[in-house]
Amino acid sequence: MSKKCIGVLTSGGDCPGLNAVIRGVVKSSSQLGYDCVGFLRGYEGLHDPVRYLNLTPENTTGILNQGGTILGSTNQGRFAATVGVADRIELDPELLAGVQTTINQLGIEGLICVGGDGSLAVAQQFHEYGIPVVGVPKTIDNDLSATAFTFGFDSAIECATNALDRLHTTAASHERVMVLEVMGRHAGWIALHAGIAGSADVILVPEISWTGENVCHKILNRESQGKRFTLIVVAEGAELPGGGHVAEEQIGAQSRLGGIGQIVAAEIECRLQRETRVAVLGHLQRGGAPTTFDRVLATQYGAHAVRLILEGKFGEMACYEPPEISSVPIAKAVNHLRQVDRNGSAVQAARALGVSFGDCKADESPLAFRSDTEEVATATDIEVDADLTLDIAEAATEEALS
Ligand code: F6P
Repeated sequence: MSKKCIGVLTSGGDCPGLNAVIRGVVKSSSQLGYDCVGFLRGYEGLHDPVRYLNLTPENTTGILNQGGTILGSTNQGRFAATVGVADRIELDPELLAGVQTTINQLGIEGLICVGGDGSLAVAQQFHEYGIPVVGVPKTIDNDLSATAFTFGFDSAIECATNALDRLHTTAASHERVMVLEVMGRHAGWIALHAGIAGSADVILVPEISWTGENVCHKILNRESQGKRFTLIVVAEGAELPGGGHVAEEQIGAQSRLGGIGQIVAAEIECRLQRETRVAVLGHLQRGGAPTTFDRVLATQYGAHAVRLILEGKFGEMACYEPPEISSVPIAKAVNHLRQVDRNGSAVQAARALGVSFGDCKADESPLAFRSDTEEVATATDIEVDADLTLDIAEAATEEALS
């Protein structure tokens, strides 16, 4: 009789730690006497044509610290029907039947789907169809509910923090304002954590409304303290003051976010005539080796996913509830986006240190600790043009989409 088999695939945008999960799955299932197959290009490899690799401890050795995924991944194609948590589109029943056939023919006892909200929403549809799946939460955005951390996030903030450290020194040398645009889609976790770790002066996130006026107040406030440079980190999904997002491209129902950094910079130059430069970190945040934290988390997720299959806990997703790895129904993880709590401790700590979120004037921060004797310029002399922000934003969005 042939050995029992476990399947694994990596789906959606890649991130550091995917190979660490694969290695964790292969090594731990091998210890238990299972064979392992890895489907290629995410869900695409499951059907028409079926494409997979036999994975062994030997051919997955040395991949723990490698970025990317040896199995390949895609966030497009026939299985990208579910574009977000709120936008479920049913998968083609013929596709589901094809996947079921593959699972049966290969004798797969359980399929491990490693992905973010869109990919796990597909896994949920598999589960409802009767295909034996378990999930592993992956995304640099850290926006999946029901887990404290997704793997990939720590590596992304390490990258963004490093970028802020580098921008810090050149900003100081040239007395410039530097804007760093980071990823994260509609959650501000990367901007918030990297902003704190990289000592940004202003952090703009989707969860907190900001104005150009308030950002400029912070810059002037710093100047009044003799600090002639300012470091700003902005999340790609931060909303424009007049509402809406800045998108580079519209792909189906989903927009590829990007370009807000230029708008923030243009606004500062317009209002204050300060030299302002922009760096867009982009996919650098998704490449390279996983951090130590992500290697440990991804390895635990891989081993735990195998355990879920052994226990017959299909439809569950491995999750991290510090200090333990456990599991929750996939449906619970994908039913809403986990965003930054604007009153949460990380935001409060940043505010306490004087970081501006652009939602109030620098000297009006709700939690800024200032001594009564300290003189802080209020920068009330800024001319405010309420329509300016919107005009610049609209022009830039039109240009980006044209
Ligand atoms: O979800 C991960 C992520 O990197 C987002 O932060 C970003 O908006 C998006 O994927 C970019 O996707 P793509 O690689 O398709 O440009």
